[in-house]
Amino acid sequence: MNPTLTHPHEHKHEANGSEPRNFADETYEAAMKAATAVRAEVQDLSFYYGDMQALKGINLKLKDRCVTALIGASGCGKSTLLRCFNRMHDLYPGSRYEGSIVLQPDGKNLVHPKTDPLWVRLNVGMVFQKPNPFPKSIYENVASGLKIRGITQKGLLDHQVEKALKNAALWEEVKERLHKPALSLSGGQQQRLCIARALAVEPSILLLDEPTSALDPIATARIEELIRSLEGVMTVLMVTHNMQQARRISDFTAYMHMGELVEFGATEPLFTAPNEQQTADYIQGRFG
Ligand SMILES: Nc1ncnc2c1ncn2[C@@H]1O[C@H](COP(=O)(O)OP(=O)(O)O)[C@@H](O)[C@H]1O
Ligand SMILES: [Mg+2]
Repeated sequence: MNPTLTHPHEHKHEANGSEPRNFADETYEAAMKAATAVRAEVQDLSFYYGDMQALKGINLKLKDRCVTALIGASGCGKSTLLRCFNRMHDLYPGSRYEGSIVLQPDGKNLVHPKTDPLWVRLNVGMVFQKPNPFPKSIYENVASGLKIRGITQKGLLDHQVEKALKNAALWEEVKERLHKPALSLSGGQQQRLCIARALAVEPSILLLDEPTSALDPIATARIEELIRSLEGVMTVLMVTHNMQQARRISDFTAYMHMGELVEFGATEPLFTAPNEQQTADYIQGRFG
């Protein structure tokens, strides 16, 4: 098989009917290379809430600057897995990790007891189900993470705020009112602002936990478009309970069931020709 056919972005190039691929195209080659680089490797990861084992020996490679979706029935462990990536569980007593999540190229194990959870949270950004902007201005929300990191120079802050708002597809809507309260924005805009706030510090990985589940269909479509546009820019790991959403916007999909990873692979083949019967049953709506 022609190796280029396995390129995860392939189906999208075909889907939008763009010109035939030029195999000598350097940007295409660069994109392919980026797609095969690994940003984080989950190795034999188990997680316990006290005595309750919520994750069982997960193995998974997050591809650099691609969108990976986590799907599976409610309670299967999607959010639990996502939260391991920024050590959110450490905020609650009794939680325990086994195995590793190795960040590349640093080689640092994010869940190692000696890895500082604060360092992890500075490097791995997270956006939640419900938009949660700070009760400050639009500008201050996006600048907040930069200020925490000691950036005070106005020119640099302005530049990074603008860049993050552009990457979050919000700039055109807010550029004339950057100093207005963030809470004056619509729900969908607030969620894009939260994504901008996370992007501003250029995290290694951006985590999204059902980022559209509190939004109306139009705001959802805008967020989906935004996440798709992060392809090639940011490594994204996203939980969704909406299989169609996973199929529309992700390059790779991981299907989980009762704390285990059943199947992981490029999104389109996983949906059209899954390797596991369990995956087939789930995506055809036979259970879950
Ligand atoms: N803080 C917690 N303490 C104990 N058990 C939890 C906690 N959070 C989640 N769980 C349990 O862990 C399992 C996985 O939950 P979760 O990761 O939230 O699933 P999902 O996001 O796929 O719906 C479920 O059985 C859930 O009840
Ligand atoms: Mg969840």
